Amino acid sequence: MPIQTTPVLTGPDGAGPAPDADLVAVPFGPGPDLAPAPWLESPVPVDALLAHYEAKGEPGEVVEVPTLREGGVRRVLLYGTGDGSAAALRKAGAALARRAKGRASLSVVVPPKGETAALAEGALLAAYTFTIGNGGKKPVGEIVFVGGDERDLKRGEAVARATALARDLVNTPSSVKTPAWLAEQAKAIAAESGLGVRVREGAELGEFGGIRAVGQGSVSPPCLVELSYTPENPRAHVVLAGKGITFDTGGLSLKPNEGMKTMKTDMGGGAAVIAAMSALAAFDVPVRVTGLVACAENSISGSAQRPGDVITQYGGRTVEVLNTDAEGRLVLADALAYAHAELDPDIVIDVATLTGAAKVALGTSLGALYATDESLAADLIAAGEAGGERLWRMPLVEDYRTMLDSDVADLANVDRTKSGAAGSIAAALFLREFTGGRPWAHLDIAGPARAASDDGETTKGGTGFGVRLLLRYLTATS
Ligand code: BES
Ligand code: MN
Ligand code: ZN
Repeated sequence: MPIQTTPVLTGPDGAGPAPDADLVAVPFGPGPDLAPAPWLESPVPVDALLAHYEAKGEPGEVVEVPTLREGGVRRVLLYGTGDGSAAALRKAGAALARRAKGRASLSVVVPPKGETAALAEGALLAAYTFTIGNGGKKPVGEIVFVGGDERDLKRGEAVARATALARDLVNTPSSVKTPAWLAEQAKAIAAESGLGVRVREGAELGEFGGIRAVGQGSVSPPCLVELSYTPENPRAHVVLAGKGITFDTGGLSLKPNEGMKTMKTDMGGGAAVIAAMSALAAFDVPVRVTGLVACAENSISGSAQRPGDVITQYGGRTVEVLNTDAEGRLVLADALAYAHAELDPDIVIDVATLTGAAKVALGTSLGALYATDESLAADLIAAGEAGGERLWRMPLVEDYRTMLDSDVADLANVDRTKSGAAGSIAAALFLREFTGGRPWAHLDIAGPARAASDDGETTKGGTGFGVRLLLRYLTATS
């Protein structure tokens, strides 16, 4: 089910694609560097053709041209490369993969300059499909990249594979995806990618009162996955914490069907953490990384937690659960408090589909970023921009902290005043309470974790948002 398209890297040779190549794509751009290749014979001069189609070489433009090759007529796709930036080539690659859908093979002549890793990344991600059974049109069978730097292309492929892994985890239906299933996937991935792994379940979750409370209404018990990556002479220790709610009914504070039907994706943050960690060794990440994925099904039953219950989070803080649908912060609070008390991290980053309010504020293209550290915020924003996953910094408004005061416990899990305002900020302020004052960033990805339709390299369903920016951030950390 992961990427079904095989990438083939043929390395630099300048000779052009194999003569019998089924479908060939050739770059063209606004600059003189990218006049279409000499072996391209079109019955109409290529310049005239491009002028005819008013094609300017912008990324995403694809002009189909019949050409004479090896005595026969073949179709060539002329693709725009824009300024050759990562964003442009990602878009160009995605447009090509979509155009080649259902074909056996596509040969892409790589432009001589520019961010060619992004070309491969965009093409492979746009070719991603998730199907159960035989429905849907098959993606292109293979993409042959002709020319270009092999290491760059391999990097693009590795990023695409990690992102596709997150998409697979998110797209898997919750009838299959129980907390135990997610933990099994994490174990298999850890074994393949040289990570340490420990899964806490049952009695081992004793102190993790938030994870237990959220999971207690489900027949599929909760667990905490801990993945570890330790390079030689690590420069720092980063903890990544992911929300792993395998299905969110809202609990007794039940969601209406409209809001519930997409909630198999409520482990998108946890998926991003697992998938990013799967590629750390391949990217030679210089920092120690611990991934915590707090897994539970927020279900409804006679054993489910009730509005008004008071729980004890890891570390001893008590929380009055006024709304069982604000469950993500309960499982994450345990993970954050555990990281602070036991792991001695230099930096903590959590990733979560936490609030509908973040989606209302920023839509589905951007993630909401909260941070208690300026350089951490700047680094994450830069990593997101470069990798095509944009973040927007949101404020931790101190005045709002009193919204979470409780009459009976240390904290309430939602705004006690029921104003409903600033829901994403309130959630972030709740989480901050458990970070012990360490440099911390929180990514609320409720919007971008899921897409309603295909667009560029994004495919309908789980997007894998966060994988690329985490990988880029961790690779660059010093
Ligand atoms: N998983 C949801 C948030 C969500 C909503 C993600 C829409 C993706 C799309 C979260 O657990 C939730 O239900 N949050 C509540 C919080 C509220 C009860 C304070 C929400 O956003 O309505
Ligand atoms: Mn919820
Ligand atoms: Zn949720």
